[in-house]
Amino acid sequence: MPRYLCENCGFSDSLDKNLYFCPRCGDPLTIIYNDNELNGDFSGSGVWRYSPLLPVNEDKKVSLYEGNTPLYKSLRMGGEAGVKELYIKNEGMNPTGSFKDRGMTVAITRAIEMGFNSVICASTGNTAASLAIYAARAGIKGYVVVPDGAVALGKMAQARAAGARIVKVRGNFDLALQMVKDFARESSDAYLVNSVNPFRIEGQKTVAYEIVESIGEPDWITIPVGNAGNITALWKGLNELKRLGKVKRLPRLLGVQAEGSSPIVKAFNSGSGSIEPISSPSTLATAIKIGNPASWRRALKAVRESKGAMVAVNDEQIVDAQYLLASKEGIFVEPASAASVAGLLYASKSGLIGSSDVVVSIVTGNGLKDPDSASRFKSLEITVESDKNLLYSVIAK
Ligand code: F0G
Repeated sequence: MPRYLCENCGFSDSLDKNLYFCPRCGDPLTIIYNDNELNGDFSGSGVWRYSPLLPVNEDKKVSLYEGNTPLYKSLRMGGEAGVKELYIKNEGMNPTGSFKDRGMTVAITRAIEMGFNSVICASTGNTAASLAIYAARAGIKGYVVVPDGAVALGKMAQARAAGARIVKVRGNFDLALQMVKDFARESSDAYLVNSVNPFRIEGQKTVAYEIVESIGEPDWITIPVGNAGNITALWKGLNELKRLGKVKRLPRLLGVQAEGSSPIVKAFNSGSGSIEPISSPSTLATAIKIGNPASWRRALKAVRESKGAMVAVNDEQIVDAQYLLASKEGIFVEPASAASVAGLLYASKSGLIGSSDVVVSIVTGNGLKDPDSASRFKSLEITVESDKNLLYSVIAK
């Protein structure tokens, strides 16, 4: 049977128990499979196509058809990026507009299996929106704990519309996460579905399967990093494909953080074995405004094992990449997602990623999530009287 494993200290236990963290060292737990339990007989589409590698009962699934997101070949950014081929995996096309749904469908299914009537998370916004919508779909209560005033409009709107109970904390995401972690240690009144929940990681690893099933293994995959659950999931999925013999070599991972919130980049650059948390993280990419990422250890391990790297990009680079993606490729993403492409542009300029490389950039959330951040872009925009002749003054200018 698959079981929990602590990748830090080796603690292991059975999945019958409800665990999130290692009782010995406190690290988030991972779910691992023996070789004979790795079953690659996939059928159907979306996240549940991979149910042989999802450790929950599919008959109880709570699903809104997540996964099976488009992988677009870049048409006009290849030049800028300086790589052989660039693909954009658009996770913003999931039901609530972010990659969180891949993990949430599995975590909420686990919550139902375990008999919970309530689920809870701390969030910079997207996890909250996803939790709210999936809790509604499951007919259970959703509680979201968010940093007051620091969550994008679209995400709050989703949580409110789905009837989630919203707790706004006077403090940042890291403090909100600490609150729900403490709560989950002491109480079993609500199931914790942050990415410290190993079932979330199981769902999110399916993005790796989809990429490889579409184009085989690229040379690099770039991905934005906040709390570091998603890069952990990506690397886990890739390694399972390797063990299944579905890939020969593993891609290198480029984890991208926002400059004001980049403790993992600093640890990577200094060769350190641990991060130094940042107490006041900053960036306009609020989704990844995180100073003390819970899964930092697994993220460092992933980039080091893959012979990849962690890089930081500043807000200007993020906004430039957001504009490039929408205006050159027709892919409108939120700022945190654009960090993935900003990181690629930086890495190719600095020679880390080369002109013969095939690259997949994962973009994680839809641009509609954060309309305020996109309002800064200036295009031709005029106000006229209702007279069609006035159109002639505009068209083809
Ligand atoms: N991109 C987006 C759009 C996100 O919302 C997040 C995380 C990330 C990237 C980073 O993923 O945390 O797994 O490294 N958002 C979380 C939330 C923290 O609460 O919605 P990560």
